[in-house]
Amino acid sequence: MKLVTVVIKPFKLEEVREALSDIGITGLTVTEVKGFGRQKGHAELYRGAEYNVNFLPKVKIDLAISDEQLDEVISTIAKAAHTGKIGDGKIFVTSLDHVVRIRTGETDDSAL
Ligand SMILES: Nc1ncnc2c1ncn2[C@@H]1O[C@H](COP(=O)(O)OP(=O)(O)OP(=O)(O)O)[C@@H](O)[C@H]1O
Ligand SMILES: [Mg+2]
Repeated sequence: MKLVTVVIKPFKLEEVREALSDIGITGLTVTEVKGFGRQKGHAELYRGAEYNVNFLPKVKIDLAISDEQLDEVISTIAKAAHTGKIGDGKIFVTSLDHVVRIRTGETDDSAL
């Protein structure tokens, strides 16, 4: 299993959610976050040494999926979240060891 964490522009959330729903994703978690990438939001030199970084509002989506779903999930998100302008965001993939569906006690792939 994989845990896919995606940071996108907030106005792209609905499009990404719809696209994921269309490929059969049954659950995800959304969090409003702040962050910066290579442009550091708006980097400024401060007193010659420190950088004053502007955090920009972003939306983070976490979804736990099976290994087989990974390629389709990545391409679907990359397509739906793409504008071609800076700040489109990133997709992070990590291995997921264990999942428990609390109501039923099912585990791992059956619990997704
Ligand atoms: N290396 C990173 N680790 C954790 N979060 C990151 C990382 N890079 C980007 N992010 C998150 O993704 C958001 C969007 O990043 P962004 O798309 O601006 O990356 P970038 O590398 O600057 O690419 P681009 O040049 O297209 O803007 C950031 O605001 C931050 O929340
Ligand atoms: Mg950037």
